Amino acid sequence: MHFSLLFTSILGITATASSQILSSSLTHIPSFGPNPRNVSMYIYVPKTLAPKPPILAIPHWCHGTAQAAFVGSPYASLSDTYGFISIYPSSPNTADQCWDVSSNASLTHQGGGDALGIVSMVRWALEKYGGDRERVFVMGTSSGAMMTNVLLGSYPDVFAAGSAFAGVPFGCFAGPGFDYWSDECAKGKIVKNGTEWAAMVRNAYPGYTGFRPKMQVFHGTADTVLDPQNLEEETKQWTSVFGISETPKRVDKDTPLKGWTKSIYGDGGRFEAYEAEGVTHDIPNQVDVVMEWFDLKCKSGNGTMCFSRKSGMYNKLVAE
Ligand SMILES: *[C@@H]1O[C@H](CO)[C@@H](O)[C@H](O)[C@H]1NC(C)=O
Ligand SMILES: *[C@@H]1O[C@H](CO)[C@@H](O)[C@H](O)[C@H]1NC(C)=O
Ligand SMILES: *[C@@H]1O[C@H](CO)[C@@H](O)[C@H](O)[C@H]1NC(C)=O
Ligand SMILES: *[C@@H]1O[C@H](CO)[C@@H](O)[C@H](O)[C@H]1NC(C)=O
Repeated sequence: MHFSLLFTSILGITATASSQILSSSLTHIPSFGPNPRNVSMYIYVPKTLAPKPPILAIPHWCHGTAQAAFVGSPYASLSDTYGFISIYPSSPNTADQCWDVSSNASLTHQGGGDALGIVSMVRWALEKYGGDRERVFVMGTSSGAMMTNVLLGSYPDVFAAGSAFAGVPFGCFAGPGFDYWSDECAKGKIVKNGTEWAAMVRNAYPGYTGFRPKMQVFHGTADTVLDPQNLEEETKQWTSVFGISETPKRVDKDTPLKGWTKSIYGDGGRFEAYEAEGVTHDIPNQVDVVMEWFDLKCKSGNGTMCFSRKSGMYNKLVAE
């Protein structure tokens, strides 16, 4: 069923990416702060770090592991080139290795759950390597995309941006326990309006009025694991959180690939959605699009203008 589908596809990617030659290696960190669910932490710190390095967290898919996410994507090799740090958490849910995107704990700021474990990894790395608190990013596919939605909702104070491939909105999997599979959400039967979806995000961190991380979402129209209705629900959720229209301002066909449609909302820069015609749950990561969205090729430590949380959009950082 859904899990085996994911598993097969990821193995295919693994074979091609493991041949990367890297400056450093994936390292396990046993202790890194509050982690009530015992999420495992792995980190890739390139030999040469950018000044004030940005941080990218990459939660894996169901039946995935930190190691699989590490070898299954080129982000470690990109860390070498651009000097950012990447964090690969591993789920404690041994039954299916999906993330806890269901518990009230994960869906609450500082509430606990897998979300807090991942945030503790980020905080630990920021401290240890003098990372840039204004440039923390999260990206994932499937369960990792669900976790991306959850982290942006529960920790808008930590992240600058997210990128979610074939996920579901924040709170769509809400249910009993830390490893609850919401069939209703997966099948696209949880349909809400923007106000309702945004209320779930706001309730995750009541009273928070600061910067909201920007978000990009991708979904295949032929996804039978997580129904593409979820792209529409994510769109309603995040546009409502940002207070921008649910109707795109601009639609670009065949972007970045033939058959993919990019929709840009509001004045751009805060939310964008990609619908991939005929693409299944096995949606290919769009490395160039993600790198650009996070502005990860930019080295902020030298006073260059990079995307960061600081002013909301592009912002000139003070050289230090
Ligand atoms: C935490 O997880 C690790 C490996 O995933 C395991 O070896 C360890 O026993 C776990 N600790 C607790 C307290 O469950
Ligand atoms: C969710 O967790 C938060 C923090 O732990 C708590 O304040 C809140 O009452 C919980 N909500 C529900 C519906 O259980
Ligand atoms: C959204 O749904 C809620 C609850 O069903 C309803 O009260 C509200 O009027 C709806 N808002 C819009 C804009 O449709
Ligand atoms: C500063 O960063 C920018 C963007 O990465 C880079 O093009 C430029 O060469 C850097 N300048 C110095 C002096 O390192």
